[in-house]
Amino acid sequence: METKIFKPDEVEAAAKLLRQGELVAFPTETVYGLGADATNEQAASNVYAAKGRPSDNPLIVTVSSIEMVERYAQPLSDKVKQLMAQFWPGSLTIVLPLKPGTLSKTVTGGLDTAAFRMPQNQVTLKLIATAGIPIVGPSANTSGKPSPTLAKHVYHDLNGKIAGIVDDGPTKVGVESTIIDMSVDVPTILRPGAVTVAELERVIGDVKADHHHVGANEIPKAPGMKYKHYAPSAQVEIVDQTADFAAAMQWAAQQDEAIGVMATDDVLTRLAIPQNVETYSLGQDIQSATHLLFAGLRHFDLESEVKVIFTEGFANTGLGAAYMNRLDKSAGGMHFLK
Ligand code: TXA
Ligand code: MG
Repeated sequence: METKIFKPDEVEAAAKLLRQGELVAFPTETVYGLGADATNEQAASNVYAAKGRPSDNPLIVTVSSIEMVERYAQPLSDKVKQLMAQFWPGSLTIVLPLKPGTLSKTVTGGLDTAAFRMPQNQVTLKLIATAGIPIVGPSANTSGKPSPTLAKHVYHDLNGKIAGIVDDGPTKVGVESTIIDMSVDVPTILRPGAVTVAELERVIGDVKADHHHVGANEIPKAPGMKYKHYAPSAQVEIVDQTADFAAAMQWAAQQDEAIGVMATDDVLTRLAIPQNVETYSLGQDIQSATHLLFAGLRHFDLESEVKVIFTEGFANTGLGAAYMNRLDKSAGGMHFLK
């Protein structure tokens, strides 16, 4: 199969493919998603095959209107309506109880809930509205690899396996949406993202973060709780302090292999960089670092042979919680200690 690249003004053709049960990747402000008709069980199961994704990890249902959610979900609570009013379209995915039998087990992983998201990308909202059906929307990467923030990342992973990619340039945020479970008594964050705990609590009061570890036979409530995630081929190591970076560079200088460093400009300019060390700038601050994290990991995977990637750690609050959650998973929890 030849994977066609669609420009933003070609969504009609892309929508037609979706209606025919084909797979089409789409842009969102977080990362690129892999779309398929959420009401077509065969199409949804093809998404698992294309990604190489374990079939018990449920899919997000991507919508272009709240009315589309109401076709499948139980009547929306006031808190859920407030969240939608405040954060949609945007980087918040909301887990809701379903009307029984409305979405297939392929989409829900057999749960009686589903995760709904209305992304903030005009092209994709138009794509879904034109198709007239909700589309499943896992990140458009091979399972286990960093999520795609450029159409070329999607092309690299899925070329020949999907019918098309709608290219709308780089994504803004760079990590996936915040997931909040609103099907339980106390609203619970299953995955941190650009919408922060503080912002959520301002709208609906107390929320709790779920650090539950998923056992082998359990259905995971959020990605990464059970499966290896965001992992490039090189070992990623988190570096917490600039002083540790200096020690990491001394260690690197003694290696025969190439070593990678991903850090903000401020850190990079202060380091003595040995000859065998390749740098990738994370820009100025936590916003740019989050925007560039996955792209940087993919850069080292595709365009270099480094054996370790030393990557700057940030404080675990606000957007930093989303960044550190992804970095921690790509590093398998490993920190560089001098
Ligand atoms: O920003 C994003 O959310 C991106 C863009 C493309 O929309 N999508 C994304 O999808 O990150 P994915 O599939 O990589 O992550 C969504 C996760 C699933 O892995 C699953 O663990 C969780 O949402 N999920 C899906 N349905 C759920 C449910 N009913 N209850 C709890 N978690 C659920
Ligand atoms: Mg994913």
